[in-house]
Amino acid sequence: MGRGTALITGSSSGIGEAFARLLAREGFDLVLTARREEKLLNLTKELTGVRADVIAADLSHPEGIEKLLLTIDEKKLDINLAINNAGMMVEKPLHRLTNQEIDNILALNISAIVKITRHLIEKMARRGHGRILNVASVAAFHPFPGMDIYSATKAFVLSLSESLAENHRSQGIFVTALCPGITDTEMAEKNIIDSVPNFMIARPEQVAREGYDAVMGREVVRISGLANRLALGLAKHQPRSLIRKLSGLATRFVSR
Ligand SMILES: NC(=O)c1ccc[n+]([C@@H]2O[C@H](COP(=O)([O-])OP(=O)(O)OC[C@H]3O[C@@H](n4cnc5c(N)ncnc54)[C@H](OP(=O)(O)O)[C@@H]3O)[C@@H](O)[C@H]2O)c1
Repeated sequence: MGRGTALITGSSSGIGEAFARLLAREGFDLVLTARREEKLLNLTKELTGVRADVIAADLSHPEGIEKLLLTIDEKKLDINLAINNAGMMVEKPLHRLTNQEIDNILALNISAIVKITRHLIEKMARRGHGRILNVASVAAFHPFPGMDIYSATKAFVLSLSESLAENHRSQGIFVTALCPGITDTEMAEKNIIDSVPNFMIARPEQVAREGYDAVMGREVVRISGLANRLALGLAKHQPRSLIRKLSGLATRFVSR
C-alpha cells in the first residue's frame, strides 16, 4: 500500500531532488515544484511505481504560491508530508543587497514556507494527521556576518518549526526542522566547498535520508551530519559574544 502524498518544494536539484528519489523509493506519491519545469519532468521519468505531479511555480512571488496551492486543491491532492525545502542564499552582507534581492530571499525563505504551511496544516488538522519538514540550516543557530539575511531567515524557519511542533502535536501533526551544514549542491558556492575540509561537506542524499528519518521519527530539530552536531554542541556551551566573533572570522576566511 502507498504511503500517501508528499509535496517537495525545490525538487529540481540538490537536497529537494534527493528527497524526491528517496520518497519515491519509500512509496510516496509526489508533488514536485520548482521553477525549472523541464528538470522536474525529467526527474519524474526516473521515478517508478509512484504517481508524480509537477507544478512549476516561482515561490518568491505570491502568484506562484497561489498557483501551487490552487493546483493542489483542484487536483484533490491530499498532502500528508510537506517538505518545505526551496530556498536561496545570498552570500553578501545587508548593505550590498539590492531591494529586489532582499524581497526575493524574504519571500522564498520565509513567506513561501509560512503560506504553504498555513494552507496545508489546516487540512492536516481536519484529517487528524500530517507531517511537515522545513529545511533550515546550521546557520539558524548563530549569526553568520556576511550572510546576515540568509542566516536570519533560517533562524526564522527554526523558530517557526519548533513553535508549530508544539502547537500541533496534539492534532497528530508532527513538524521537524532539518538543519544541514555545507552540502554539495548548486547552492554551495565553489569557494565555500574549496575552503572547508571534506568531512564537513555532505552529499544531498545523506541530508535527505537524515531529514526523512527525523520527520518519520517525530524529531523536532535534526542537525544533519555528526561533524555539524559536534560543532554546534560545543558552540552551545560558549558565550554568544565568542560565537559571534568566531563566525565573523570564519566568514571572512571563507570569502577571501
Ligand atoms: N547547500 C547547502 O550547503 C545548504 C546548507 C544548509 C541549508 N541548505 C538549504 O537547503 C535547501 C535546498 O538547497 P540546496 O542546497 O539543495 O540548493 P539547490 O540545489 O540550489 O536547490 C534549491 C532548490 O530551490 C528551488 N528554488 C530556488 N528559487 C526558487 C523560486 N524562486 N521558486 C521556486 N523554487 C525555487 C530550485 O529550483 P529552481 O531553480 O528550478 O526554481 C532548487 O530546486 C535550501 O533551503 C537551502 O537554504 C542548503
